[in-house]
Amino acid sequence: MKTRVATPKDGLGEALSLLAASEPVALPTETVYGLAADALNPAACAKIFEAKERPLSDPLIVHIPSANWLPRLAATTPLAEALAEKFWPGPLTLVLPRNPIVPDITTAGQETVAIRWSAQPDFALVASSFARPLAAPSANRFGRISPTTAAHVLAELDGRIPLILDGGPCAHGIESTIALVHPGRIEILRQGPVTAEDLRAFAPVETPQSSDIATPGSMKSHYAPRTPLFIEKNPQPLGPRDGLLAWSQNPPGFFLTEFYSHSQNPREAAANLYGAMRRLDEAGLDRIVAEPVPEAGIGAAIMERLRKAAAK
Ligand code: TXA
Ligand code: MG
Repeated sequence: MKTRVATPKDGLGEALSLLAASEPVALPTETVYGLAADALNPAACAKIFEAKERPLSDPLIVHIPSANWLPRLAATTPLAEALAEKFWPGPLTLVLPRNPIVPDITTAGQETVAIRWSAQPDFALVASSFARPLAAPSANRFGRISPTTAAHVLAELDGRIPLILDGGPCAHGIESTIALVHPGRIEILRQGPVTAEDLRAFAPVETPQSSDIATPGSMKSHYAPRTPLFIEKNPQPLGPRDGLLAWSQNPPGFFLTEFYSHSQNPREAAANLYGAMRRLDEAGLDRIVAEPVPEAGIGAAIMERLRKAAAK
C-alpha cells in the first residue's frame, strides 16, 4: 500500500471517503497524531489494530464530533458532565461505563469506554464532517514513541495506511490525560496535559503510582525508544556514544545532547519530548541518559512517559 501525505485542505475529501470505506486515516490532534477509523464499525477498528500491530486486548479511545455524543456512548454522571463542560474540547479522556452501541473490539471487551473530544481544528473538521465517533490510538507501531509530526507517522506506518493529514506539529506533544470517573472521585489512569491539580477542583483525585501496571495498555514498557534509556539525576556518559536528554545540565562527553526546553518551560518540554527522544533514538547511540524534570504540573506526565520508556 502506498501511504500518501496531504494537507488537511487537500486531503479532507479523500480522508472522508476512506473513513466511509472502513479504512484508517492518520490525523493530527492537539496531543499526538492519531490513527482514526469509524469507532462504531468493528471492521474499521480491526484495521487500526492490524496497522499498529496492537494487541486486541488494548482498548481504543473514541473521539466524538460533539458533546451530545457523550450520553449516546456512555452512562454519564454529573461529575463527568462537569469535567466535559470544563475541559472539552481538549486533552482530557473520560472513562465511563459504555453503552451497547460501542462495539466490543473498540473497548477490547471492557465494560467501560474511553471518550474524548479533540480541539485540533483539522481533526475537528474531519470528525464533524464524518459525523460519527472516531476511534484513534496514537499513530505509532504498538509500544513505540507516539508521533507528534506527520513525518513521525510516516516513519512508523509507511506502507501500512493509505493517508496521513499533515496538520503540523502537535501543540501538547504528549497524550491526553485519562481519567476514570467514579461516583464522586477521579482516578487518573494516565497523566497528561490536564493535570491532577486541574482536576482536583472537581473531586478528589488519585494519581497512578509509578509501579502500577494493572491498567490495560499501561504496561510498564511503552513509549519506548529502541536505544536503552536511563533516568539519571546527574547524567554522565559511560562511553563515546551516549546521548543526553537535558533539562538543566550539559556535562561534557555526550555524543549528542537534546534539550527538553532551552528555557526550562514544562509545557514546551512536553511538546518537544517525543521528537527529542526520536532524534536520540535515530543517532545510533549505546545509551540515552535522561535528566529528570521537576515533577509538578505537566512534569508529572513527562516523568510518567520517561519511566515507561526506561522500563524493560
Ligand atoms: O492523546 C491521546 O489520547 C491520543 C490521541 C490520538 O487522541 N490517543 C492515545 O491513544 O494516546 P492510545 O490508544 O495510544 O492510548 C490510549 C490508552 C491505552 O493505554 C488504552 O489501554 C487506554 O487508553 N484505554 C482505552 N480505553 C480504556 C478503558 N476503557 N479503560 C481504561 N483504559 C483505556
Ligand atoms: Mg499510544
